[in-house]
Amino acid sequence: MRGIVLAGGSGTRMYPLTLVTSKQLLPIYDKPMIYYPLSVLMLAEIRDILIISAPESLPDLRALLGDGAQLGLNLTYAEQPEPRGIADAFIVGAEHVGGSASALILGDNLFHGTGFGELLRGSAARLDGCTLFGYPVADPERYGIGELDERGELVSIEEKPERPRSNNAITGLYFYDSDVVDLARDLRPSARGELEISDINQMYLKNGRARLVTLGRGFTWLDAGTHKSLLDAGQYVQVLENRQGVRVACVEEIALRMGFITAEDCFRLGNRMKNSGYGQYVMDVAGSLS
Ligand code: DAU
Repeated sequence: MRGIVLAGGSGTRMYPLTLVTSKQLLPIYDKPMIYYPLSVLMLAEIRDILIISAPESLPDLRALLGDGAQLGLNLTYAEQPEPRGIADAFIVGAEHVGGSASALILGDNLFHGTGFGELLRGSAARLDGCTLFGYPVADPERYGIGELDERGELVSIEEKPERPRSNNAITGLYFYDSDVVDLARDLRPSARGELEISDINQMYLKNGRARLVTLGRGFTWLDAGTHKSLLDAGQYVQVLENRQGVRVACVEEIALRMGFITAEDCFRLGNRMKNSGYGQYVMDVAGSLS
């Protein structure tokens, strides 16, 4: 499976924070935002990952993550000059996806929960058409919404409905078979001028090839697209990490646990940051798993 992190957009809702830097490089507590979506793809065992962002943001993203070899990944980069819509990821990323199945994740989405890696790997293995991940929210009119029938089958998808038929938000993580690139190429911009991911999902649904995996109450899903939600996400991570003594979305730890790098590699990565608690943690993890 190929992965895409969509980390573009103009970030205007976050001004002045994003006047000179990309939203996905802002901190969620102790690490850059992009570590969170990247770690989700890694947990799904995806190692060929394309990072799509605005041209002015790509140099900084590249400086942070490089070619990914230090994490046992193959990272490549592509420009999205204008925020033309989430589905545009499959036009910009057509070559990267090739004829493979793919997973797309939005660069400002944070997922956390026990057994998430297993759930992702299981969903990838069973993929037939498209798999979406739902999460109950209190404000469904802000999201893509999926409606399930009594058997748990997905029956409708609506983008930001005024009168939502359920509170099941469709999160910013999407698994698709290899048809997605052709479907994206056939899309026309919506009334708000974007290539809508919900339109692609509706096409899969029409062909009976879309399913929604509901992430239950044991999971956390946050998006960090406003000042408030960025702070909320940071506080969530802070409380959890300080209470449990483990780090959320520590990409070095995940690379080690997934077998992408050795304990020695991991220790070296931590050692470069040894003046920070994060670096110390990476070295400790490497020591305990060597
Ligand atoms: O977060 C989940 C929601 O994401 C879904 O429930 C919706 O169905 C989906 O449309 C999307 O809604 P948003 O209103 O949150 O999308 P937004 O335009 O804020 O874009 C989400 C992220 O993707 C944001 O970090 C910027 C990035 N992006 C967005 C667009 C439109 C790009 O990198 N390029 C783009 O062209």
